[in-house]
Amino acid sequence: MTDGSSVATTDLPAIAFLGGGSMAGAILNGLLSPVVHVDGGIRITTRSAESAARYADARGVTALATESAADANRTAAAGAKLVVLAVKPFLVPGVLAEIADVLEPGAVVVSVAAGVTIATMEAAVPESVAVVRTMPNTPAQVGRGVTGVSAGSRASADDVALVRALFETVGAVVEVPESQLDALSTISGSGPAYVFLLIEEFTKTAVAKGFTGAQAKLLVEQTFLGASELLAATGEDPAELRRRVTSPKGTTEKAVEVLADASLSSLFDRATDAALARAKELAAGA
Ligand SMILES: NC(=O)c1ccc[n+]([C@@H]2O[C@H](COP(=O)([O-])OP(=O)(O)OC[C@H]3O[C@@H](n4cnc5c(N)ncnc54)[C@H](OP(=O)(O)O)[C@@H]3O)[C@@H](O)[C@H]2O)c1
Repeated sequence: MTDGSSVATTDLPAIAFLGGGSMAGAILNGLLSPVVHVDGGIRITTRSAESAARYADARGVTALATESAADANRTAAAGAKLVVLAVKPFLVPGVLAEIADVLEPGAVVVSVAAGVTIATMEAAVPESVAVVRTMPNTPAQVGRGVTGVSAGSRASADDVALVRALFETVGAVVEVPESQLDALSTISGSGPAYVFLLIEEFTKTAVAKGFTGAQAKLLVEQTFLGASELLAATGEDPAELRRRVTSPKGTTEKAVEVLADASLSSLFDRATDAALARAKELAAGA
């Protein structure tokens, strides 16, 4: 029996989210957990008043829209220790120019924007402000995200620890140098799309085997969820769990032989290489 006193809590300083769309909303869900305390409150900005209104009932959250208050980003960023840039990447330079002179010395600008480099962001804010670039993924919406975190040149170990604590409220965190962040994005950033594609294709296969759409959906989705939960719960190597389903000379062995013949690992190499090449093109402005 537990009295709950051993539950780990996370304490975070005042946070501003500039941009209050899907990614900011996902992280906010983590912050609204009863075991997270944000001293100094949470501010969120959006472009439209309609989007800001979505946060009206969120505990400890002040939402401001730039269409109602032109200085919303400046108001939100002033006094915040963590300033999370959660607008679309093309808006990041403009938003940084807008807020640069109100950032507190010692503030940490945390970007989730794909492709905007640390050097670009450091050049846009005072020397006294640190920058940390991150790449979260969409399962953050259900607290099962994985976020790549890269420290900027002015970020201290304490700054990085704060950013880590922020993203650990919505899943796991992996720290990598910025040079690896695009590669990380081809794995965990885009990865949920690969998994959904596998589920879509496998569901078509189930329908072709004579199951109704509803049955096929249940069979496939529950199999993906069940296998993932089994992996998480047992902590076993996936290859070992696969062997346990694969009796020698049995039916699964035959199917796995066919899948192995399809050179899945080289297929994943090619898919992630294509994503990486596109990241380089985007960085070059293509
Ligand atoms: N979604 C993902 O899977 C994912 C994963 C990793 C990284 N990211 C990164 O996260 C960032 C946000 O993506 P998202 O998917 O959350 O986009 P989103 O849902 O479109 O949200 C963007 C938000 O920015 C607001 N906004 C627009 N202009 C603004 C301004 N000048 N000042 C303040 N707020 C402004 C929008 O307000 P309105 O709602 O009023 O228009 C909206 O709330 C992007 O840089 C993206 O690269 C996203």
